[in-house]
Order: sequence, then structure tokens, then C-alpha cells
Amino acid sequence: NKVVLAYSGGLDTSVIVPWLRENYGCDVVCFTADVGQGVKEMEGLEEKAKASGACQLVVKDLKEEFVREYIFPCLRAGAIYERKYLLGTSMARPIIAKAMVDVAREVGADAVSHGCTGKGNDQVRFELTFFALNPELNVVAPWREWEIKGREDAIEYAKKHNVPVPVTKKSIYSRDRNLWHLSHEGDILEDPANEPNEDMYMMTTDPKDAPDQPEYVEIGIVSGLPVSVNGKELSPASLLSELNEIGGRHGIGRVDMVENRLVGMKSRGVYETPGGTILFTAARELESLTLDRETIQVKDSLALKYAELVYAGRWFDPLRESMDAFMEKITVTTTGSVTLKLYKGSVSVVGRTSPYSLYRQDISSFENGQIYDQADATGFIRLYGLPMRVRAMLEKGL
Ligand code: ARG
Ligand code: SIN
Repeated sequence: NKVVLAYSGGLDTSVIVPWLRENYGCDVVCFTADVGQGVKEMEGLEEKAKASGACQLVVKDLKEEFVREYIFPCLRAGAIYERKYLLGTSMARPIIAKAMVDVAREVGADAVSHGCTGKGNDQVRFELTFFALNPELNVVAPWREWEIKGREDAIEYAKKHNVPVPVTKKSIYSRDRNLWHLSHEGDILEDPANEPNEDMYMMTTDPKDAPDQPEYVEIGIVSGLPVSVNGKELSPASLLSELNEIGGRHGIGRVDMVENRLVGMKSRGVYETPGGTILFTAARELESLTLDRETIQVKDSLALKYAELVYAGRWFDPLRESMDAFMEKITVTTTGSVTLKLYKGSVSVVGRTSPYSLYRQDISSFENGQIYDQADATGFIRLYGLPMRVRAMLEKGL
């Protein structure tokens, strides 16, 4: 029998290969999804996988699909977890797990495996996706079974099984990178009182070293989905990389937070989401023109639930899919462009336009117009304030 392993080329996943062969007597097919973790991560993977004892490495480039089918829907929904987290890791797990289900079918494997620890969210996200897409697959989660406790154990196990220990120096942080974001957890971050070291950041310049001149960027959006940067139409993945570049050099999108993991514990994480922060700001700003008060309120309240589902790994839940149908409908007119000013870590809005704008200067202007008659306000206020008047009359015995 065969197992498909979510493989990164790092020490942990390298050790899982011989461990699966030894403990489950199966052939191991390694799988790596390219979700924009960077060329360095993708180098020499095949040789590494083979040297660890894998019979095969399958690589799939999922970058465009990741941005189009996962990231942009979350952006359109306005999904933010616990006020701050733009869900970078949460969105990547379902697409990776879905691809693993496909690979398992292609190579005739009856099991899948991942290197997530038993203390985190990622294990849940992988396994809920496996359940939803192929409930017959067996799932092996070595971290919940084996004796290996830390890096030293893993190196010893690798040596005993003639697995080359990856030469790249292991960073002290637990990191996860894709096209949308880079997350940092662990080491000094484990004490929420500690300020992160400046040299930890990788996608964003320190705002104090960012250019002294602000940069303007114009985002074009059609029905809630970004389509262009500074008038240039780009595919979803190239649009996002371009904005990561621009936002990164101005130090945009750093978030430091303490979050509640699905498994109950709190954890401290630092995220870099430069392009994503620009896109969230633009999309929200455009909605201020195209959606009315009540629509925004309902959309925002559903966005909370949507974010919770995504964080909890329930991407392939009909509830999330149905909420997307709602989000798609409610944003049909969210089309237009937003100009933002980036300056030393901040994004501010300087202008927005939309062919579907509900804003009318002829009504809002301080000049007197035809549609809005100021005299109408007298009756409106009397009726709108009637309950307040009645209560005050009661209290005063009138
Ligand atoms: N806390 C974030 C989340 O749950 C980031 C997780 C990072 N994962 C990782 N394997 N380093 O989405
Ligand atoms: C892990 O524990 O594998 C990474 C962190 C997380 O899943 O939340």
C-alpha cells in the first residue's frame, strides 16, 4: 500500500518518510504544493525526497488557483479572524489537502499523512478536508503517535535511517509562507510581552527604513474581486505578488496578535501580509460607495462567521459554500477603483470611484438641491424620535 505525504523538504517531513515506511510498511509518495512559498523552498526537493526514501515526489503549481479560488473569496467576504488575522495559513491548508486527495487517487494510495503537530490548527484543516473529499482515506499524523520529541530526536532518527539532515539551518521560529502571507510563531514570541526582533521579518521592510516619499497605488476591482494595479490588468497571482512587492517596501501589513486556536489554547503569532492588507483596505473602501448601511451590517456580521469557518478548517462545508453564494451576489456592484497612499507602514485612502456608486453629490452637497428638501426633515425627525418622546413624557408624568 501507498501513502501520500504533505512534504516540505524540512527536517520534520524528511524524517516522516522513513518513519512511515518502518511503522506502516508502505511506499511513500511525497507531495509538495507550490502556493508561493518561494523558490528557495522548492529547490532540490526531488533529490531530497528520494534520499529520504520516498518512491516519488509530485509537485503541483497551485498559485493561481490558490489566489483565485481561496484567497479572493475570503477577501470578497471581508473575512478577518479575531479582528486581525487575514487567514493566510488557514486558506492554504484546504487547497493543499484537496490536491493530496487528487494525488492519492492518481497514484492509487489509500492513505494520506501530514507533519502537523497535535497542538495546532493545521492538523484539523488537513483532516477535515480529507474527510469532506474522500472519507475512505486513512490518515496518519506522526506527531500524534511517535516518540520523537524535538529537533535532537529527529536528527538522531534521521541519522539512524541514513536520511540526510537538511543542511539549511533551521530557523528558531515556526514559519509558514505562501503568496498571501508569512507567519511567525515560537521562540521569543511565545511570551506575548516580548517585542519581535526586527531581523525576524522577511516580507516587509521596517517602516522606519521605508522610503521617505509616499507611493500611490490604484486598485481596480470588479464585483468584489481585484483585477488591476495602477491600470494594469494582472492574473490573480501576479497581481498579489506585485502588491506584496509594493506593500513590502513600505512596511505594510505587519500584525502581532494573540489568537485563540481551535484546540482551545491561546497562541501568539506575528504575520506579514503586505499585498493582502492593501487589498482589504481597497475592497472595504469601495464598499463604502456601493453598499448601503444595512447591507454592510449584514455582510460584516456574516464575515465573522465566514472567517471562523475558514480558520477552523471547514472550507469544504456547505455552509461556507452557501455563504460565498451570498457574498458573490451582494458584491455584484462592488466595481470601481480605489487609490491608496502607502507611507512608512500605513495605508490610507485618497480616493474611490465606482460606476455603481450610491453616493450622489447633488444630494449630499451643502448646496440646496431638488431631490432632498430640507423641510422634509422636520416630519422625519418627529416620527423617528417618537419613541424617545413618549418615554420622556412618561418619566415626566406628562
Ligand atoms: N496561527 C496561524 C493559523 O493557525 C498560523 C499557523 C502557522 N502554521 C505553521 N505550520 N507554522 O492559521
Ligand atoms: C502546527 O502545530 O503544526 C502548526 C501550528 C498550527 O497548526 O496552528
